[in-house]
Amino acid sequence: MSHDDLLSHAEAGVLTLTFNRLDKKNSITAAMYAALADALAAARDDAAVRAVVIQGHELIFSAGNDLADFLNDPPASADAPVWRFLHGLRSFPKPLVAGVCGAAVGIGTTLLLHCDLVYAGDNAKFSLPFVNLGLCPEAASSLLLPARLGHVRAAEALLLGEPFGAEQAAEWGLVNRILPPGEVNSFAQAQARRLADKPQSALVATKRLMKAASADAVATAMAAEGEVFGPLLRGPAAREAFSAFMDKRKPDFSKV
Ligand code: COA
Repeated sequence: MSHDDLLSHAEAGVLTLTFNRLDKKNSITAAMYAALADALAAARDDAAVRAVVIQGHELIFSAGNDLADFLNDPPASADAPVWRFLHGLRSFPKPLVAGVCGAAVGIGTTLLLHCDLVYAGDNAKFSLPFVNLGLCPEAASSLLLPARLGHVRAAEALLLGEPFGAEQAAEWGLVNRILPPGEVNSFAQAQARRLADKPQSALVATKRLMKAASADAVATAMAAEGEVFGPLLRGPAAREAFSAFMDKRKPDFSKV
């Protein structure tokens, strides 16, 4: 990874992680997942970090996993960087704030389900095209999305892979507020600074209590998804989907 693909900036108690791989639509490589996982692990133990912001660019949040990586170097073990990142995110004890503009594909949307506050640009477009790629959901989205949206809405998003916009996401309770794209990241930062100013022990205890009832189920769902995701990733449907994307053609699933 170019060390600029994920920018990290700490100021006034807020660690900001910014996707910055614009030429590839902020798609996330294994090296970027490793950097994200390491940053969260360090932030967890660093008393100077009191809140974390995850953000992208005002035109694109993230095109999800790097599909060339999926094709050439799929995550091979349970401690692969992508899973380390997701487990770090799931169990992160301090407040997580996201700023999302433009496309948020795959993990670009599912990571938001683990954030405490989510601010979206009016240009935000969320999509979960796992099935269309021959894959299954990750980040416990197979549990969290039906829980938040209800089964039939989650089925449109996860089975049909239908994208949805900021208004829909706000109505479904996936984002807190819709803003002009140019204001999203600064607003997310401002909210994180407000959190950073609060008494940390009370804040961390409150987040833990809010998540207590679902914590075990989320961990179980993530592990179950991981068991299915790996074989699908190496299967013929996914290989065809990734090759088709790289070759800029429509996938042919007639034989899979
Ligand atoms: N992995 C690897 N490269 C990606 C990528 C991804 N997930 N998403 C985009 N890119 C690359 C494209 O290959 C292209 O590279 P090139 O300039 O070398 O040809 C570049 O980023 C620009 O992408 P492009 O598709 O031309 O941009 P767009 O504005 O027309 O569309 C998206 C943006 C995000 C809608 C579209 O790129 C897309 O659908 N990406 C794939 C999303 C996906 O399926 N992610 C996996 C989820 S599990």
